[in-house]
Formats: sequence, structure tokens, C-alpha cells
Amino acid sequence: MQKPNKRLENQTCIITGSSGGIGKAVAQAMGAEGANIVVNYRSSKEAAEEVADEINKNKLCGEAIVIKCDVSKEEDVKSMFKKTINHFGTVDVCVANAGLQIDHPLHEMPLEAWKKVIDVNLTGQFLCAKEAINEFLRRGMRKDVSNSLGKIIHMSSVHEEIPWAGHANYAASKGGLLMLMESICQAYAPHKIRCNSIAPGAIKTDINKDVWSTKEGRENMLKLIPYKQIGVPEDIGSVASWLASDESEYINGTTIFVDGGMTCYPGFTTNG
Ligand code: BGC
Repeated sequence: MQKPNKRLENQTCIITGSSGGIGKAVAQAMGAEGANIVVNYRSSKEAAEEVADEINKNKLCGEAIVIKCDVSKEEDVKSMFKKTINHFGTVDVCVANAGLQIDHPLHEMPLEAWKKVIDVNLTGQFLCAKEAINEFLRRGMRKDVSNSLGKIIHMSSVHEEIPWAGHANYAASKGGLLMLMESICQAYAPHKIRCNSIAPGAIKTDINKDVWSTKEGRENMLKLIPYKQIGVPEDIGSVASWLASDESEYINGTTIFVDGGMTCYPGFTTNG
């Protein structure tokens, strides 16, 4: 776990999809900064409870609770925010992280696979941002806690920039997130709301296990990463906790790529 820094003390963070993978690392990192944490899950209740228990064992931290919610359903998202506000008083940071891949070549992609990915990865982030903004505006500024009214972090991907054959639904959802994030910044920055994205590259989680779990897959992955290292969820957790803190106060409307240089297109090193 990250070294405690208390940069998020007295703040409450909702992290969607935080029962495992990148979301879990973000919850742990923000917990280590002294924040109250909402560990959100859709189906993995036990795993979510383990994440919360671990954060609660750290005496320096705020409190972690677990809330079930399918981010693609408006009534679920509204209820998650309501429960959080009832328990902690408000929300200061929303990390819209829940996301999935359902891969098919485009000409064979069932409409359901297209819709499901857009519903969770893009509509889910819209629904969370909407509730978060409403709560930030309702609550008003608390200068003793943060210089910003509230912070929204969208978990995007290098595929908001890099096209991805066989994953058009996923790439389209992440490309859409870029415009969602920038539009939120443009509209709400005057209210001192910060909205940014983190774009992870190849990070070792269940979502890409089929690739990194074989030698050939790992070698192919590393060809795409100039830094020659596959990322780990903690690489994202540390950036997210900093991005939620006042140390990054003047950053707004930006995507931070955490990808070992993947977006520098290493295939062009010798050719092109
Ligand atoms: C995807 C992973 C992939 C990585 C780099 C991520 O957004 O979810 O499956 O390994 O991008 O291509």
C-alpha cells in the first residue's frame, strides 16, 4: 500500500468498479491519503468487502464502505450517491472507473456487445459525473478541505487515442470519454470543479489477462511499450490520488497517459 500522505483527509471518494484491478488500487491509494472510500461493485461483493476491510485496518485512514451499483443504471447510480451522502455527508471525489471489454471483429459484433460496452464505459461515466456535479454544487465550497469544489476522474485508456481493431466498441467508448471529460471541464471549471482523465496503457489486470498470461502475449505487449515494462494497478493508484489532491489543482480538462510511452507509437522507431 502507498505511503500515507493525508492529501485527501476529510474527503469522500467514490471509486466505481473498485472490487479489483485498477479500481482497487485507486481505492487503496486514496484510502492511504486519509479519505473515506466507497468501494463500488456490481457482482463481486466478497472481493469489495475485502478491499474495504483492508483499508479500514489502516488506522491512519478514513472509513471505507461497500456499495453495490450497476453504473449503467441511473437509479443505481442515484442510490449509490444518496447512500454515500447519507453516510459521509457529501462526495468530494468521483473516480468513474468501472469498465469492460467485449471484443469482436466489427463485422461480427453483436449489437448487444456494442451497447453493453457503451452503456458501462461511457453512459456509466456520464451518470456518475452528473450525480457528482449536482452534489458538488449543492454542497458548496469547503476551503478547509480542498481548493476545488469537487474532482471527477474518468478512467479512460490509451485507446481514447490509439485506434483498436477488433475492439471498436471499447475504443469508441474511450474516444467518447475524451469529449465528455473536456465538455465537463469547459462547463464547470468556473465553479471550481476539476474533471480529468487517466489513460492507462497495458496494466496487468483481469481485463487483459488472456494476453499477459502467455509468453507470446507478453512479448507482443512489450513490443508496444517503449519503457519495456507492463504496468501494475498501483501505477494508476498513485497518479489518481495525486490528481484528486490539491497538489494538481491547476490541472483541468486533461488526459494523463500512464502507459510507459505506448502512445509514442514504438512501431515507428525503425520504419515509416
Ligand atoms: C485495455 C487493455 C489493453 C490496454 C493497452 C486497455 O485500455 O483494457 O486490454 O491491454 O488498453 O492496449
